[in-house]
Amino acid sequence: MSLYALYPSLVRPLIFMLDPEKAHSLTIKLGKLLSRPPLLSLFSQQVEERPLEVMGLSFKNNLGLAAGMDKNGDAIDYLGALGFGHLELGTVTPRAQEGNPRPRMFRIKAAHGLINRMGFNNKGVDYLVRNLLSRNYDGVVGVSIGKNESTALDHALDDYLICLNKVYPHCDYVAVNISCPNTPGLTALQEAAPMEQLISGIKREQDKLAAASHRYVPLVVKIAPDLSETQLQIVCEICLKYKIDAISCTNTTTARDMISGMEHAGEWGGLSGRPLLNRSTEVLAKVHSFVGNELPLIGIGGIDGVVSAREKIQAGAQLLQLYSAFVYQGPQVIKDIVENL
Ligand SMILES: Cc1cc2nc3c(=O)[nH]c(=O)nc-3n(C[C@H](O)[C@H](O)[C@H](O)COP(=O)(O)O)c2cc1C
Repeated sequence: MSLYALYPSLVRPLIFMLDPEKAHSLTIKLGKLLSRPPLLSLFSQQVEERPLEVMGLSFKNNLGLAAGMDKNGDAIDYLGALGFGHLELGTVTPRAQEGNPRPRMFRIKAAHGLINRMGFNNKGVDYLVRNLLSRNYDGVVGVSIGKNESTALDHALDDYLICLNKVYPHCDYVAVNISCPNTPGLTALQEAAPMEQLISGIKREQDKLAAASHRYVPLVVKIAPDLSETQLQIVCEICLKYKIDAISCTNTTTARDMISGMEHAGEWGGLSGRPLLNRSTEVLAKVHSFVGNELPLIGIGGIDGVVSAREKIQAGAQLLQLYSAFVYQGPQVIKDIVENL
């Protein structure tokens, strides 16, 4: 039996005695420690390979770690050794920032969900780049980029360009996060005019960077599950027009109907995990109906096993990511999904 099969019965009860953010910081600190040999090989997890090509990149399997777990790239080698086919680091901003006041992360235990309003707490893009430079993990690494809270929305492009320039040489793809509900105004960047201005600016910069370095680093746009059908159509048109390389569906939701009456349901922020599954899969399917096979899609939201992973693939996803199921089930969930899909 694998070491990680014991997580739900032995480790989770202990971790869940801690405040969720403390538990998260401890996990990342431990992950940093375990990233060093010889510990790394002791705590790694063998997962059969299921190779695939998406966005011109070679993945060992289709399941990745979603953004937000390792915002600063502190535990890349450990997280990679658990069997993920890719890791999305960040979201990172040009300058370090504290994020929102605590408490800002809550477990919705009855539904295997989480609510967070972290607000892009991170150590800044330069710190992340140092960690990217010292990694040994050879799987695909994406970096999610955002804007500092103190940067006005009409200057958001400047922040995205700073991050894009700094991470471009050191990662395999860049995810443009315009869908986090916890940075004031950020999701307004999904509206037609600001989105077109932002995406066209980022695309122009990518063209320059690709020409100068002779290396094309794909761009992914990550969207919210709370957009209307009309808004989704606009977002898809802009992604197609500017030849974005993939769309990630979705970030966390501000909806609460699926957890009404449960403990912490009244906290503001983004809801993730099982309660997000249906809504995020509906958005994925809708986006797929708009973009067809012109753009690969990354399915995120509520994946907690092989059944939900299959639902995402049936709805049009080529790649998958998870976050909350890792908290509830531990590393075993990666092996369960990859080897049984
Ligand atoms: C605590 C926490 C922090 C997150 N931070 C980010 C982030 O910085 N950037 C981002 O794009 N998504 C972030 N997310 C959203 C996840 O990447 C993912 O889209 C969402 O949790 C849905 O997946 P899940 O249901 O598997 O958790 C965060 C999620 C959680 C729970």
